[in-house]
Amino acid sequence: MNIEDFATFCKKKGIAFRSADAYGGYAGFYDYGPLGARIKRNVVNAWLKFLDRRNIVPFDGTIVTNPKVWEASGHVATFGDLMLTTVKTRTKVRADHFIEETLNIAADGMSADEIQTLINKHKLQYNGEDFEPVQQFNLMFQTQVGAVDGNTAYLRPETAQSIFAQFALIKETSRLKPPFGVCQVGKAYRNEISPRDFLFRLREFNQMEMEFFVHPEKGCELSKELLATPISVLSEEHQGSNADAEEYTFQWFIDKGVNTWQVYWLYEYYHFYVNTLGVSSENLRVREHVGKELSHYSSATFDIEYKFPFGFKEVFGIAHRGDYDLQAHAKHSGMNVTVVDDATQKKFVPHCIEPTHGLERVMLMVLFEAYSEDDRGHVNLALPVSVAPFNIAVLPLVKNKAHLLAKAEEVFTLLKECYSVSFDVSGSIGRRYARADEMGVPYCVTVDFESLEDGCVTVRDRDTMEQERVKIEDLSF
Ligand code: GLY
Repeated sequence: MNIEDFATFCKKKGIAFRSADAYGGYAGFYDYGPLGARIKRNVVNAWLKFLDRRNIVPFDGTIVTNPKVWEASGHVATFGDLMLTTVKTRTKVRADHFIEETLNIAADGMSADEIQTLINKHKLQYNGEDFEPVQQFNLMFQTQVGAVDGNTAYLRPETAQSIFAQFALIKETSRLKPPFGVCQVGKAYRNEISPRDFLFRLREFNQMEMEFFVHPEKGCELSKELLATPISVLSEEHQGSNADAEEYTFQWFIDKGVNTWQVYWLYEYYHFYVNTLGVSSENLRVREHVGKELSHYSSATFDIEYKFPFGFKEVFGIAHRGDYDLQAHAKHSGMNVTVVDDATQKKFVPHCIEPTHGLERVMLMVLFEAYSEDDRGHVNLALPVSVAPFNIAVLPLVKNKAHLLAKAEEVFTLLKECYSVSFDVSGSIGRRYARADEMGVPYCVTVDFESLEDGCVTVRDRDTMEQERVKIEDLSF
């Protein structure tokens, strides 16, 4: 299924709607519908549970903060994309995407000069129009704070900086020392030149980031099992060619000299996708960033990409930010970012390993992975139990018998104590089973006339389609 049809399916099911749909939507902005809001909450909770460890603390920063943070971080100076504007209609396109689509070559990280040279050499046009010279476009949204003119601030383009800018207070109040992590889920904003592909490239989105602070000279001990685990990798050497990813093991990263903490978290997140979110490893690969596409703060980055209908695309990235951010905030604000090493009593500035993913991209991956449609048009959204919008659908066999409805209500109330439960009385029982499958509900509990006699209900498993008669008091999922 292509992305447009998938967006239509998600709209129909109440997963995601264009923001202000009745007004024609608003490019790059999507709302979660009643079902999507539940799935979103479950994805966030699954991620928080995955990171629920003794040396990881949560944080919740503001979207607008002192603009000095973004000067110190380098975002005011360098956080942008190259943009092409046509001479007549002044249509704007993102330069690297345009080059990639027109010339079929990798253009991420190309300089303005390189792009301009390609445009001149191939006499590239857009809808028959020439371009103005290539320009830098800063992706941060600006806003004015207070009633005074000129108080420009920014909507945060990443959640990470709120953590770096409060490092001293977080460190003191959590009483943690490296290695420790600070995780945060929240909104981030980027004024994308060409938002597209439904939830994939948005202007307002949610990030689930962790800044993991380590001693610059102390690594992580990796188990033999981890190092021997197979992984599909598109390495730096293969970028820009049509070569496929190669099969390696995690040992490959160590042989390349990648930081052991970076390898550890790459492994952990990969298995979170496979084991908790139900993503098939065949649809995942790791891609190494080539030098020129590295962000201004990173010395090494690896992405986990998912095979979307529009190609393998980034869902997750893990950057080695070194001490770039802490040193920048120390210099600009005077904050003390040093930590005392208990073993040597020497002070050091921690380095940061940053595993990050956009919630909407994770959701899109999980939804695509779960979706299937058989020859008869029967849709099954095989969402894992941890993410499904409801664990159980309670279905009274008919809706016009008061006794039966009362029994079904009783079962609903009982199950609601421990599970998230929907209650569906509309349409035939077959239609309601089908609706539950389309919503990704793993179990249906049907209350029928016999239930009134024997106190049993029929439990139907979405994935095996098996049905079992179970006593109401024995229901357990
Ligand atoms: N914090 C990394 C990013 O937003 O891409």
